[in-house]
Amino acid sequence: MATRYPFPAAPNGWFCIGSTDALSPGDVTPLHYLGRDLVLFRGEDDGAARVFDAHCPHLGAHLGVGGRVCGDGIACPFHGWRFDGTGRLAEVPGLDRTPRAGARAWDVCERNGRIFVWHHAGGAVPDFEVIAYREDEASWTPWRSNTYEVRVHVQDLTENIIDRSHFSAVHDMAAPEVAHFDVRFEGASMIVEQSLKVTAVSEAGFEVRTTSTTCGPGIVAVEVDQDPINMLTYITQTPIDDELTEIGLHFSMRRLADEAATESISELNDQVTNLQFTQDVPIWEHKVYRERPILTKVDGPVAQYRRWFRQFYPDGN
Ligand code: FES
Ligand SMILES: [Fe+2]
Repeated sequence: MATRYPFPAAPNGWFCIGSTDALSPGDVTPLHYLGRDLVLFRGEDDGAARVFDAHCPHLGAHLGVGGRVCGDGIACPFHGWRFDGTGRLAEVPGLDRTPRAGARAWDVCERNGRIFVWHHAGGAVPDFEVIAYREDEASWTPWRSNTYEVRVHVQDLTENIIDRSHFSAVHDMAAPEVAHFDVRFEGASMIVEQSLKVTAVSEAGFEVRTTSTTCGPGIVAVEVDQDPINMLTYITQTPIDDELTEIGLHFSMRRLADEAATESISELNDQVTNLQFTQDVPIWEHKVYRERPILTKVDGPVAQYRRWFRQFYPDGN
């Protein structure tokens, strides 16, 4: 990635590193995201998810490989050093005074059925929050999730939302009856409202009005709100290393009175979303990043988008 893009692989922001369902109290999981080795675990007392740097400050064992949750902290598998829930060294077996040491604890936010960490190149605290969706969770269908690993930068992924001139070439979309395309930039969010005519699953096509809201560089929520249909495609994108990004497509819709209709619409949306996503993959994996692209009036606001995205890089202001 270092040679492919003129900016770092991991911008500043919240990035998804797991799902709430997959982590019970006492669970410990080794992870590799954002170019780092990490350990994810859930406290037994407060039930909160925690992420620490993986390697023990003592002799470097990986806390995620054999480490054990103790209360809200974790004990190292190698010599039993115990860290509390903040990462502070709380106990060294056989010593009554512990040295001042600790494991680096990351800021974690658990929302929308997923676990996020805050990454900031300069170590600053979060300056925006993960936007919450589906707060009346019981009236929504359980998440359907698909995960992909793609050789692409997160900046290119979200640029796709406003790159409207690729919709017909890549996604078989036709021009909607009523054209609507509105892009706003508000702090850490870009909000795109647009009408789309999807022809991938039926020749006549169907038209939808979508609102896509980004939350920093790692999260995009695509909402369709057309009474009585209320659908949410929640996209998480996390740099793994300098080359690869993990992308999660998570879909949920408000339950309709008719259960069979809910199921068939969910199925159809899942099919369309994953098809459209995989249509982009070969383009993303083989493209280069043009710092000075030739833009025309049929392209979306690519230059404006890139200026907005700069806020997530260390020298962006
Ligand atoms: S390496 Fe962790 S306690 Fe020794
Ligand atoms: Fe696309």
